Amino acid sequence: MQEWWKEEIVYQIYPKSFKDSNHDGIGDIQGIIEKLDYLEDLGVTMLWICPVYQSPMDDNGYDISDYYQIHPDFGTMEDIDELIQKAKERHIKIIMDLVINHTSDEHAWFQEALKNPDSPYRNYYIFKEGKNDQPPTNWRSVFSGSVWEKVPHEDNMYYFHSFSKKQPDLNWENPQMREDIYRMINWWLDKGIAGFRVDAINFIKKDQSWQDGPVDGADGLSSCFEFARNQPGIEVFFKELREKTFDVHQCMTVAEAVGVPYHQLDIFIGEKGCFSMMFDFNYSHIDITEHEEWFPLQNWTMQEYKDKLFLSQKEIFKTGWCGVFLENHDMQRSLNRLIRNPQERTPKVAKALGQLFMFLKGTPFIYQGEEIGTINNHRLSINDFDDLNSHAQYRRALQEGYSEEEALDFVNRRSRDNTRSPMSWNNQRYAGFSDTKPWLANNEYYKEINVAGEINDSDSVLSYYKQMIALRQNPLYHQTFVYGDFTPLDSEEYVIAYIRQDKQNQILCIQNLQNKTTSFPLEHYSKVLLSNDDIHIYDHQIQLSPYQSMIILL
Ligand code: GLC
Ligand code: CA
Repeated sequence: MQEWWKEEIVYQIYPKSFKDSNHDGIGDIQGIIEKLDYLEDLGVTMLWICPVYQSPMDDNGYDISDYYQIHPDFGTMEDIDELIQKAKERHIKIIMDLVINHTSDEHAWFQEALKNPDSPYRNYYIFKEGKNDQPPTNWRSVFSGSVWEKVPHEDNMYYFHSFSKKQPDLNWENPQMREDIYRMINWWLDKGIAGFRVDAINFIKKDQSWQDGPVDGADGLSSCFEFARNQPGIEVFFKELREKTFDVHQCMTVAEAVGVPYHQLDIFIGEKGCFSMMFDFNYSHIDITEHEEWFPLQNWTMQEYKDKLFLSQKEIFKTGWCGVFLENHDMQRSLNRLIRNPQERTPKVAKALGQLFMFLKGTPFIYQGEEIGTINNHRLSINDFDDLNSHAQYRRALQEGYSEEEALDFVNRRSRDNTRSPMSWNNQRYAGFSDTKPWLANNEYYKEINVAGEINDSDSVLSYYKQMIALRQNPLYHQTFVYGDFTPLDSEEYVIAYIRQDKQNQILCIQNLQNKTTSFPLEHYSKVLLSNDDIHIYDHQIQLSPYQSMIILL
């Protein structure tokens, strides 16, 4: 079925790190407005704005203390309205981040719940008595440590948090709480935004039997995923949420839902599912453990990665739709994640990886800095990291018996700060992000990898991204790339090849993800639409140079 949101090309902005407009070293909404020309020129049609709401910033805004206010570091509500308006003038839509599994512990509701155990707000959260001087269950939170935090000045009383202790989970079992959340969602939709990226939404239902799980770490705890993620009954909450908010506004929603087994897709993206689309993490989390730990290092092969990617496409489109992405603000840079040899993290490879994703079936999401081929930062001390999860994973690795050096290595590889260092706009001081020292150190390679250096270079990663977007939007091929079938092709391990086709076109997308020349059979073709290297096709074969990518109209 044709849907407008299937045709978008989304660009994800992490506002704190995108552009500082007022000289305080922190990115802000006016900074985004300054860069709208850049985004229009790139060709994207929608922006996903990571949280800019009022927040104590324990988790950089994913801990919201007031859904109706903008954090002063980012600007004002007028700035958001201006952004929506100015983006619209450029035919760019805005989706906001919707964080409704939890609030900040500094949210007025939670403060009231703490102050007055008899207040109705107590039941907006999950409070429970401990057992035998211990928390109610032995579940480990996503950011490590117990999911339970002791309530100050009360005996044997705890509150629940899936993430940090400054992010208490909302109690979705409470209809009054749900109504307050729906009111807030509708208030934002009334502003004229196009929809939401919906944070950690598969956590909103908890197993109500509150049983201990099997201990799976040196901390004596048990991963909370078995009890607090993708739980049966969650579909009841989804249905109401959709009917009372998203349906009313016909908005676009994309669910962040890690670890959803494919047989459960229906409640997320099926016809009666809650969301327009979801992100499937089953292939992108290839570098971390099932419990989302950054250690030990995972041994994965390109074959496994390819199989997972193809399986994802196969399963998702049986049921609904997905957003496809190479990077986001919770991952490391893709060149580091997917390419083992540091020498091979080159612009050519960045183009090949970008192409692999841009032409999959699904709505493409590009993360800021991906379009210029940014690579990870290397930090010498744990103190140089800002991300709370980097500190948590470091502590847990030590606890599990790894050395400080090993623990730092895990964090350097996987830290979320890798995608959160300020955007590199040029090779000047502070990379043109700000004229004062940024809140987080600039990317160490900003002198070589930056927007200004790439924008007029027709051979740059940035230019390739522009060409890919333009090709996807070209009326001759647009329908094929959006709605056409996806067919994976057999090939050697490091070659990823697939065909997108409909009645009009048959288009081969091929990427040679190795530092070695190879070939691929090609019986007939009409035209090469794009490539990151010179084209050699003869004797019914495509010759592919190391890391060559090509789009070929058959
Ligand atoms: C999501 C966000 C992540 C955040 C977490 C808790 O996974 O993407 O950045 O830390 O939810 O809100
Ligand atoms: Ca600023």
